[in-house]
Amino acid sequence: MPDLTELLEQAKGVLEMNDRGNYTQPAHGLYPHQWLWDSCFIAIGLRHLDTERAKMELLSLLRGQWHNGMLPNIIFRDDPIYRTDRNIWRSWISPFAPNDVMTTGITQPPLLAEATVQVGAKLAWPERRLWYRLVYPALLNYHQWLYQERDPHGEGLVLQIHPWETGLDNTPPWMNELHEHLLQLWIRLIEKLGLDHVINLFRRDAHSVPIDQRFSTIEALALVDIQRRLRRKAYDINKILDHSLFTIEDLSFNSIFIRANTHLREIAKSLREELPEELDKKIHKTEKAFEELWDQYSSQYYSRDFITHRLLKVPSIATLLPLYAGTISQERADQLVRLLENEHNFGPAYPVPSVPVSSFWFKPKLYWQGPTWVNMNWLIIDGLKRYGFNDHAAALSESTLEMVARSGCYEYFDPLTGEPAGAANFSWTAALIIDLLKNQVA
Ligand code: GLC
Repeated sequence: MPDLTELLEQAKGVLEMNDRGNYTQPAHGLYPHQWLWDSCFIAIGLRHLDTERAKMELLSLLRGQWHNGMLPNIIFRDDPIYRTDRNIWRSWISPFAPNDVMTTGITQPPLLAEATVQVGAKLAWPERRLWYRLVYPALLNYHQWLYQERDPHGEGLVLQIHPWETGLDNTPPWMNELHEHLLQLWIRLIEKLGLDHVINLFRRDAHSVPIDQRFSTIEALALVDIQRRLRRKAYDINKILDHSLFTIEDLSFNSIFIRANTHLREIAKSLREELPEELDKKIHKTEKAFEELWDQYSSQYYSRDFITHRLLKVPSIATLLPLYAGTISQERADQLVRLLENEHNFGPAYPVPSVPVSSFWFKPKLYWQGPTWVNMNWLIIDGLKRYGFNDHAAALSESTLEMVARSGCYEYFDPLTGEPAGAANFSWTAALIIDLLKNQVA
């Protein structure tokens, strides 16, 4: 076992280094702004060091909340050098965007309820109540917005309009759709002529991370192209749906949403508040509708195309997140755990790979197409414990700690060798390592 005291000090150092006062940047250089789910994971670690600072991490996310309830995936830094980042989005074109900060026009997995509860667990009851009171209205608005805009047919599952909304930017189920159906002609042409290799030379992310550990230029162009199309519709969901842009009911997003709804219920209960009846009904419906994502032939859950209801049968890290959702049957949970035990699937030396090792997509150092990510491990560990797989959870926690202790708080890791990849000094890796360490000792 690694030297735990040293690891803890190292992780604290990373969070201090990336602290920007009221929020923490994910990594210097590559990710200078405030990201939604990053700050949630970061608060889960910070709560062990300084509960006030952890609260502030979450409250500063609310600065970015749109008037319709949406929480954007990024709040941009107000510094002239980041003008280009802000201008790509031009959030001010939407009447719902806040006036005093600039943001994107899309969201990210709804982890705020989880982070609120985790921070709350560190507070004594009267203080916890005050904390919940502070966050509850914004949280409620956010969940209501998710149903209102992202479940337009009232089917129970919420849809996403850009791969960035899943936080798993180039995850195979989405990329497969992109390559098969949605790649614009001009992008195909660039690919055919091999011009992407020329564009590689100009990629800004290559200054921080070797380019072969990031998404491909063709995928990057496609992601920006989809973003432009959303901007052209001023992020208006009705216009976006009318033009049937890229819309998927993502498995990982919906798994996290289910857990978030459970937490929202708990928060309301502790405040002796009733959830609005309509919302309560929708939450029940989501838990039921989630089972429509199960494919009996392969005994796995998948994401689904919103328009055609076709399951996108490409396994990815999302495959295991129903464990975190916590509403699936024990029998199905057992089936998922078997995938985790299999070394050719999700169980190599340093689990959990973001794509099964035997998949056609698997590349051990390529972003969300193979590497192990600490935030995914944290969610899976939490789910395993709730389904009674305590030994599996302990083993996964230990291998995660070992991987990070060996190389440092990197963004992701090669699941076969444990070698680090992506950005160094990455905040959520540091924060979640602190949480895993504290829980291990507890
Ligand atoms: C990358 C990740 C995303 C994360 C962001 C900031 O885009 O894919 O999940 O939120 O970096 O760390």
